[in-house]
Amino acid sequence: MKDKLEKNVASLFSRRYCVLTGSGTAALFCIFNALELSEGTQVLYPVNTCETAVNAAVFAGLKPVFLDVDMKTFNLPEQKIIQLIKNVNIPVVVGTHLFGQLMDLQKIEKQLAANKAILIEDSAQAYGGEINSKKAGQIGFASIISFGPGKLLDCSGGGAILTDSEEFHQKICRVANSLQNNPQIKLEMRQKMMREMFVLGKQALTPKAFSEKRQEI
Ligand SMILES: Cc1ncc(COP(=O)(O)O)c(C=O)c1O
Repeated sequence: MKDKLEKNVASLFSRRYCVLTGSGTAALFCIFNALELSEGTQVLYPVNTCETAVNAAVFAGLKPVFLDVDMKTFNLPEQKIIQLIKNVNIPVVVGTHLFGQLMDLQKIEKQLAANKAILIEDSAQAYGGEINSKKAGQIGFASIISFGPGKLLDCSGGGAILTDSEEFHQKICRVANSLQNNPQIKLEMRQKMMREMFVLGKQALTPKAFSEKRQEI
């Protein structure tokens, strides 16, 4: 069941690979571990992001740093991210779409890469949306989504990592395995959540259903 769900979710987001996790937080935690960053590496978040997303960095031994948001979009101001990382060594940016509003991450993807910063897209609050013909969940080196309470597809918990890199996908699988008994974060998606996702997903995991649900919210 897990393999089939992972394939379906990857294809829904037009990504090559998906790994289901116990939560969106676990998905970020797994990504940070798989990136093999040294302790205390700075990770950029919007100041108003969900605190559990920040815990993922703390649990992985990294240092979260925060940037204020644009008062019109309540998301990170793209150009300010670039200014900041040019001056301060911040190797990882968690590009977070908040409250269903999509950031224009494509605008800064190349500049981030030129400054050797890795873009991780947090689409927990925005999947189902699209920007410049790209889906939330399809942008950046890797993306995370959440199936937690209140999310677009609420399975009472669960999350996913999406990426196009075969090498990174393999690393994620290895890391997820090795961290299975981690006391801080439940890495694996529970069978109950997967069953719920399987049933709900048939109706809910379609572009049409995403769009209707977003209108409703
Ligand atoms: C933006 C954002 N990122 C990550 C998460 C973490 O997801 P989860 O609750 O599945 O751990 C949340 C949860 O609310 C969120 O809003």
